[in-house]
Amino acid sequence: MNVLLTGGCGYIGSHVAVVLMAAGHHVAIVDNLSNSHQGVVDRISEIAGRSPAFHRGDVADVKLVRDVIREHSVDSVIHLAGFKSVGESVQWPLKYYQNNVCGALGLLEAMEAESVAHLVFSSSATIYGDPRYLPVDESHPQHVINAYGRSKLHIEDMLRDVCVSRPSLGAVCLRYFNPVGAHSSGLIGDRPRGIPNNLMPYVVQVASGELERLKVFGDDYPTPDGTGVRDYIHVMDLAEGHVAALDYLSSNSGWHAFNLGTGRGYSVLEMIRAFEAQSGRSIPFEITGRRQGDVACSYADIRSAAQGLNWRATRSLEDMCASAWGFQSRLAGG
Ligand code: NAD
Ligand code: UD1
Repeated sequence: MNVLLTGGCGYIGSHVAVVLMAAGHHVAIVDNLSNSHQGVVDRISEIAGRSPAFHRGDVADVKLVRDVIREHSVDSVIHLAGFKSVGESVQWPLKYYQNNVCGALGLLEAMEAESVAHLVFSSSATIYGDPRYLPVDESHPQHVINAYGRSKLHIEDMLRDVCVSRPSLGAVCLRYFNPVGAHSSGLIGDRPRGIPNNLMPYVVQVASGELERLKVFGDDYPTPDGTGVRDYIHVMDLAEGHVAALDYLSSNSGWHAFNLGTGRGYSVLEMIRAFEAQSGRSIPFEITGRRQGDVACSYADIRSAAQGLNWRATRSLEDMCASAWGFQSRLAGG
């Protein structure tokens, strides 16, 4: 297939590009590099053994996206371009609606004008809010508490409407749980700008000595060891879920949503221990108060993705930690 991959220079997008190319698809990336750099395209090429097409630009730019669709005879779109920082979205909500919602709007206009009928969208488990039951399935009530989550929900809802109006369109919303880890080459991975907000990149930088110690946000949750429990999923498993979603769209139209997780949760303390074992480094930490907006425990019901997409995560927690450390070590080595 000829796939337009938006946000393909980012953390998840670069892994999706590699997996798509390994599966024989032609990939054209549109990325404005607002949270990445063009060197990632060379790294993708090194891993894949051939280069994806790259167009620097914004997904809200309808003309640019239409041109790219025509140039590459695009038949499917995987849309990952967007901002993703929860804290920033609380401070600058309009920036999030502008980039995420208006970006998706521009993309959809371009797809409609060029009659592209397959879309995979990166949504988030954050739209479920504080789980009312576990594991969280796709029909769990939605409850968003910040502009980032609301931007994802708005886009999901927009896609529902568009699918009703255009019955030939197929849209799959993939609700990611907690993507971590890196490609086994160590060439691509998660390197957030500034001080990381998420657990795994923070742990990695403590292990490398760039940060002094980890703050564990609360040990008084109703979980086995009192720390927060999440469904961490290897980014390569997640990337493979996108290829499965594209395959699904070759025989299904309409709107669909699937969780991408492993179905099992690990606590913060379990993550620290697993990372220490894989890296051989110790992770100094201190217990602090809870982080506002955090939930105690969240993990996915994965039956729907297993049945519908014929996909399930296969990589272990050890692999998640070892690959994240491999990426960091390769970065440190230049
Ligand atoms: P990332 O920031 O590493 O990648 C996003 C990419 O999109 C970047 O390369 C950035 O330059 C680009 N981009 C942003 N706005 C753009 C625009 N308007 N036009 C063109 N390019 C634009 O983030 P990521 O972790 O790879 O996440 C990818 C997607 O997955 C995001 O939509 C994010 O909300 C979603 N998601 C991520 C997580 C996670 O934990 N990383 C969890 C759930 C959902
Ligand atoms: C966070 C976002 C969520 C987003 C997801 C993926 C919040 C409140 N939620 O989810 O919307 O979809 O990232 O981008 O920001 N932890 C620590 N110390 C740290 C960092 C994290 O103890 O320095 C703990 C957290 O309390 C949590 C676990 O580690 O229990 C995982 O945190 P994180 O990686 O930030 O992911 P989420 O909170 O699941």
